[in-house]
Amino acid sequence: MGRYEEIFQRSIRDPQGFWGEASEAISWYKRCDKVLDDSNKPFYRWFTGGELNTCYNALDRHVESGRADQIALIYDSPVTNQIQTFTYRELLGQVSRFAGALKGLGVSKGDTVIIYLPMVPHAAIAMLACARLGVVHSVVFGGFAPHELAIRIDDAKPKVVISASCGIEAKRVVEFKHMLDKAIDLASHKPQKCVIFQRPQAKAELIPARDYDWDELMAKAEPADCVAVKATDPLYILYTSGTTGIPKGIVRDNGGHAVALRWSMEGIYDTNPGEVYWAASDVGWVVGHSYIVYAPLFAGCTTILYEGKPVGTPDPGAFWRVISQHNVKTLFTAPTAFRAIKKEDPKGEYIQKYDLSSFKYLFLAGERLDPDTYHWARNLLKKFVIDHWWQTETGWPITANCMGIEQFPVKPGSSTKPVPGYDVQILDSSGKVLGPKQEGLIVMKLPLPPGTFPTLWNAEKRFLQAYLKMFPGYYFTADGGYKDEDGYIFVMGRVDDVINVAGHRLSTGEMEEIIATHPDVAECAVIGAGDSLKGQLPIGFIVLKAGATRDPEDVSKELEELMRNEIGPIACYKSTAVVGRLPKTRSGKILRGTMRKIADGEEYKVPSTIDDPGILEEITIALQHIGYAQKKSTGQCR
Ligand code: COA
Ligand code: AMP
Repeated sequence: MGRYEEIFQRSIRDPQGFWGEASEAISWYKRCDKVLDDSNKPFYRWFTGGELNTCYNALDRHVESGRADQIALIYDSPVTNQIQTFTYRELLGQVSRFAGALKGLGVSKGDTVIIYLPMVPHAAIAMLACARLGVVHSVVFGGFAPHELAIRIDDAKPKVVISASCGIEAKRVVEFKHMLDKAIDLASHKPQKCVIFQRPQAKAELIPARDYDWDELMAKAEPADCVAVKATDPLYILYTSGTTGIPKGIVRDNGGHAVALRWSMEGIYDTNPGEVYWAASDVGWVVGHSYIVYAPLFAGCTTILYEGKPVGTPDPGAFWRVISQHNVKTLFTAPTAFRAIKKEDPKGEYIQKYDLSSFKYLFLAGERLDPDTYHWARNLLKKFVIDHWWQTETGWPITANCMGIEQFPVKPGSSTKPVPGYDVQILDSSGKVLGPKQEGLIVMKLPLPPGTFPTLWNAEKRFLQAYLKMFPGYYFTADGGYKDEDGYIFVMGRVDDVINVAGHRLSTGEMEEIIATHPDVAECAVIGAGDSLKGQLPIGFIVLKAGATRDPEDVSKELEELMRNEIGPIACYKSTAVVGRLPKTRSGKILRGTMRKIADGEEYKVPSTIDDPGILEEITIALQHIGYAQKKSTGQCR
């Protein structure tokens, strides 16, 4: 038996022993009574009875054990032309002072705080300060519109919101404070206080008695100490798209999170204390939470917070510049970032300009790594290129080529094998386990390992309904795929209404709810069509109301604007096909799968259940009109 097989089998056979040993790498105020508590199935809890502090494990313990002068965080911001470094001692100083400032605003253990910040060090400082006090943070991605922020404010009910005057995108300044004010107007819950980091690129007007200036608060604050919390207490809530307009509040606990992420740094990423780890993502996504902030700091690494893009800041050599300048060993980003680089620098000429000798591993996740991008990166970089699969729900990888355990040959299109702790299986819709190469629904046998979500915030029923009810005893991932004869997992895509646009997870159900509010729209459907840069892009199909005399072009423009205002620019909604009717089965189900195939120019079979096959011709013409659908049906019925 190989090393991976041995470790993996043990993690499944003896989770208590396996994770009990892994928990030794974390500092506890009180050891747990039980490593895995299965007394309330299907709710499993890890490290019950244990007490710790997440911020202590990320900062204090390293300062106490000789890493005080090592760089903990590098802020690299090509959009503001700045590089700023923080040693562990300096970062601890900032975090404990900001924790003191929050305490002064009346925030304490168990309260919630929303963090709506661009990619500035203040984001990491605010997250860690919350963790220090046992306050539950909820970071909201800056590309979301006020409406989305308002939904999260109403659900998380924060006492305080932490934001900035502005964010800086490659082409424009984003007025965060304006969006925050709008969101608070829209929300029913009114946070008592806001802390605003004023950036010189656009100063914001502060509302007296509600808004506080970050720098002024910090100047007066006294440092605050760590507060012990239970392993099972929530560390954060991170909202992610579900199948409706109401996002799911993924809850992460303190104990399991610290143990799993600490283990993953060596087990999966082969990155050791003192080395430089860079997740080129955003703190608003789970990758940013786990691998910009928490995991590298738990491990005593140097982490990089990058305020820039893979291209355009200033050129497609941006990533190589950061790697060589800061001696990065491990880079983690989304395939879409690499497709953007490949598009602008297909021959990899910018790669040659930099010394990449420190660089060993490129990890990619967030969407399927298409074989073309894999080969491009592998051939030009000559480094390990590793696809790994995970979800906001799990918080860390489910399948990967675990570099710290045993390196397997890469099979392009596969994210390799299950990570220790995850018992991944493929089922058909009746719950039967499928054999090698049979495509089905990907599930994980319960219990999920530590670090995965124990529930949804304020929505236990939804948690059970969405994830656990379909196949009792299993967690349903909502991804489809297969396992091959060597145990490699191939994740082929979502089987629900979630699409993946530039590595961002979006709900077509939510988009449909928004389109349906347009006064001229009678009926609509949204699908994700393939895109060579962003993986997928949303396309809306609308049927105009009888008697609507508006120019369809105008309605399409209005829908684009509506989506930008309601979800935000990251929805990337730009294409609307106006049709006379939507294709449906005789029982009234919209044939989204067939529409997606037509849009992608794939061969499709006319479903035998369709009420009117002629409608597909109309769909094809409407799609061709907006630049999609190049091929046609095979004409056969299923
Ligand atoms: N704050 C405000 N606006 C944001 C934003 C943020 N944090 N992130 C993106 N946006 C805006 C962009 O400015 C753009 O606005 P525009 O329509 O006015 O131009 C819009 O949202 C779409 O953004 P995006 O899809 O990211 O497109 P892009 O052209 O700006 O960049 C890529 C394309 C591929 C370079 C970029 O998507 C990328 O780097 N992706 C990696 C994704 C990632 O890290 N995912 C996390 C999982 S690991
Ligand atoms: P998110 O919760 O935003 O991280 O999105 C999770 C979803 O992204 C998964 O359910 C998958 O559909 C997709 N995903 C993430 N990583 C991969 C990968 N390596 N291969 C295929 N799909 C992926």
